[in-house]
Amino acid sequence: MNNNIKALIKTTSYINGEWVASRKNTFTVYNPSNQSEVARVDDADESLVENAIIHAHAALSAWRSKTAQDRAKLLRVWYNLIIENQDALATIMTMEQGKPFKESRGEIIYGASFIEWFSEEARRIYGEIISPPSNDRRLLTLRQGIGVVGAITPWNFPNAMITRKAAPALAAGCTIVIKPASLTPLSALALAELSAQAGIPKGVFNVVTCSNSQMAGKLLTTHPLIRKFTFTGSTQIGKLLMSQTVSTVKKVSMELGGNAPFIVFEDADIEKAVKGLMIAKFRNAGQTCVCANRIFVHKDIYKEFTNRIVEEVKKLNLGDGMTDGVDIGPLISKDAVDSVDALVKKAIAQGAKVLLGGKLSPIGQNFYIPTVISDVNVDMDLSCSEQFGPILAFIPFESERQVIDWANDTIYGLASYFYTENYQRQWRVSEALDFGLVGINEGLISTVVAPFGGFKQSGIGREGSKHGIEDYLEYKYVCVGGLE
Ligand code: SIN
Repeated sequence: MNNNIKALIKTTSYINGEWVASRKNTFTVYNPSNQSEVARVDDADESLVENAIIHAHAALSAWRSKTAQDRAKLLRVWYNLIIENQDALATIMTMEQGKPFKESRGEIIYGASFIEWFSEEARRIYGEIISPPSNDRRLLTLRQGIGVVGAITPWNFPNAMITRKAAPALAAGCTIVIKPASLTPLSALALAELSAQAGIPKGVFNVVTCSNSQMAGKLLTTHPLIRKFTFTGSTQIGKLLMSQTVSTVKKVSMELGGNAPFIVFEDADIEKAVKGLMIAKFRNAGQTCVCANRIFVHKDIYKEFTNRIVEEVKKLNLGDGMTDGVDIGPLISKDAVDSVDALVKKAIAQGAKVLLGGKLSPIGQNFYIPTVISDVNVDMDLSCSEQFGPILAFIPFESERQVIDWANDTIYGLASYFYTENYQRQWRVSEALDFGLVGINEGLISTVVAPFGGFKQSGIGREGSKHGIEDYLEYKYVCVGGLE
């Protein structure tokens, strides 16, 4: 391991600008590719997590009183350091998360783009002057950072899901306490180290590492000093955390599960759709909330399309993410592999047919062979649940009306994709789909400049874009009276 990487591997919480440990217990971070130990990380107890909240609160007033330009400059320095260290950060990510190195590097750049964007947006927070009801007063609104933010972030994007929250929070003048997933805390700690090098003041950006997610979740959602709570993860956990925020009436944003339809109409450009589906499905081995989950293909092109996909999937290289030429890494854990395998087995028992894969790979306990399954129907568990694995589940359809109804028939509403060369259909279908994100003839649509977020039980709020800062701001109405 080179010195650059070593210098970024930290193993305790980062609170108030210091590396602090509970010194009671540690938890181990394993490489999902081979189960080797990557690091032992201090397991923060309740008092340490609370300490982080208290320090974030103490740092708030000085951070908030900096000019937007000063906050922007510090964020920009942080961004530059991340870009300079992208290879080291990507290596750390691949070691703890498993995704292929080129994907990890892509995530570091994607993650950094949120810091760059919100460093620019910091200076574009505007209040307003309101026409008064009488001439003896003047009315205005100020936009101010809401206060201390509590954040819980997931293992599937250990960098970008932090920066997508922390960058707008800091730009708005908030301070933040982040609890990263205990499977992937090292990427979060490396970001903290670079925030320190960038000169972000003590207490503004804090990371607590702990294996007791329930304890940390309870504190971050109920502590009265936290004014906003944000979470990326499953819908089930999101609902629980959201219910806990009620007692202290926190502002909440949630980026939760998805069940993305990927629709290929009979008038689609097949090669474009093949390319789009390979990206929309296999990014991060299928472990993203926006991954294509239900592949609807018009019956007239169903056979041709599934055959083309089988040819492409056969070319995918499964292996350790640090090996050159690897396209798909391991799943995050053995439990993840078992749950994917159980979904596949159940679908087979219900009548679906395996065209490729459908089993565990012999190369390691966390590897699942990229799988293509046909004759799936909308009632199978495979269609109704978020798969989070490298499975392509094909469902034939007959008409536009039928496929829109099927696509929308889910509690989720995050991403959706469809392929058609007919421009009238492009408008019609994008308006009819009940999802926060719609990709037309594109399989990878996430970008810092567009709002990311779900309808229905996929979440609340939007991240990225000019809207992403809204969740971290309050309106303050000011009335200046006695002017006559
Ligand atoms: C996610 O799956 O949670 C995020 C994916 C993205 O930002 O594209």
